[in-house]
Amino acid sequence: MPNWINTRDDAQLVTDAQALFTKSFGSAPAGVWAAPGRVNLIGEHVDYAGGLSIPFALEQNTAVAVAPRTDGVLRMVSELEDNSAVTEIPLDKVGPGSPADWSGYVAGSVWAGLQVGVIPTCTGLDIAIVSDVPIGSGLSSSAALECSVALAAFELATGRSPADEERRRLVQACMRAENEVVGASTGGLDQNASFFGKRGYALVLDFRSGELTRVPFDLASRGMVLLIADTNAPHTLSDGQYASRRGVIDAVQHALTPGGTGTIRDIPDAAAAAAQWARDNGEDAELTSRRVRHVVEETARTQEVAHLLEEGDIDGVRERMRDSHISLRDLYQVTTPELDSAFHAAGELGARMTGGGFGGAVIALIDRDVVDDTAAAIASAAAKHGFPEPTFLIARPGEGARRLR
Ligand code: GLA
Repeated sequence: MPNWINTRDDAQLVTDAQALFTKSFGSAPAGVWAAPGRVNLIGEHVDYAGGLSIPFALEQNTAVAVAPRTDGVLRMVSELEDNSAVTEIPLDKVGPGSPADWSGYVAGSVWAGLQVGVIPTCTGLDIAIVSDVPIGSGLSSSAALECSVALAAFELATGRSPADEERRRLVQACMRAENEVVGASTGGLDQNASFFGKRGYALVLDFRSGELTRVPFDLASRGMVLLIADTNAPHTLSDGQYASRRGVIDAVQHALTPGGTGTIRDIPDAAAAAAQWARDNGEDAELTSRRVRHVVEETARTQEVAHLLEEGDIDGVRERMRDSHISLRDLYQVTTPELDSAFHAAGELGARMTGGGFGGAVIALIDRDVVDDTAAAIASAAAKHGFPEPTFLIARPGEGARRLR
């Protein structure tokens, strides 16, 4: 029997976050805030290259129960830490590279929000964290944590919810937390999806223009679902692999765009130009052009999917998803044997890895009738190869970051 992931509703998240807060800090929180994980339908490894992505916010959330303090200290506790120990860090000790463990996502978001100026003031917080977003699965558990904390700090400081422009600046702050404090050079896809997601909609994010469009995403009326298979082969985005992929793209963008500030999308015939640049500079020309080709083709595919979704051409979407996985496997080389096995077992058409890769999850856009068979096929392929047992959930577009209580 495939192993399905359990998800709490908002009321249960509130109850659990409040209970953890009271148990850990001995009083009641001022409020409870939540931010979702995300799944990326297509547009992978292009956000830092001026490309397009089409993610949606999941119904799986991280919730934080929070109360203000006056002594400049952040105290935090997470249900995900075995012993529920409280971690403490003074705000003036937070900065680039510090703290370096999971608490960097929490403390970093508050610190970066203050740096960016979107959080006007903070004199310390007590924070209790509960989460249904699978960790290290390519579903943005880190963004869910950053965004829930940043939103809570913003609302406690201002007494109101953020306007769209403030949400954009909170996204910037959470990206800085991840880039500077945690040291993962990620590109903004996750934080945008978590802050701007809306129930029933996918987002078309254009990272060159900064434009964000919502498109209705209703698979149920077509008798279809988006299945997520978490391979449970954990990944991390701060171990150098992600940075090495990004490093190639950054170097090409820096060398081949005016002022070094443009993106791959601004470079005519980018793969050939990048190969020439690599040859001239003693870099691996074949590898460089392969990486750039992925970005160029994935961006084109994602533009096509945006149109296909509007036209309701799901077969066309499923083809692009398969091609995206093949490109991430062969050109960008961020898949793993576990991801490739799940992709193959899911039937390839309509399937692809999602997120940063090097582990994590595969998605499959399939008929509702074949969900159980598909999950069973993925699980049995994993067992045959001796891989960890995958876990499954059905992805539906949920609400973006918000106050729950
Ligand atoms: C991770 C990063 C994102 C994005 C994806 C790959 O999720 O956080 O910024 O680069 O990988 O598309």
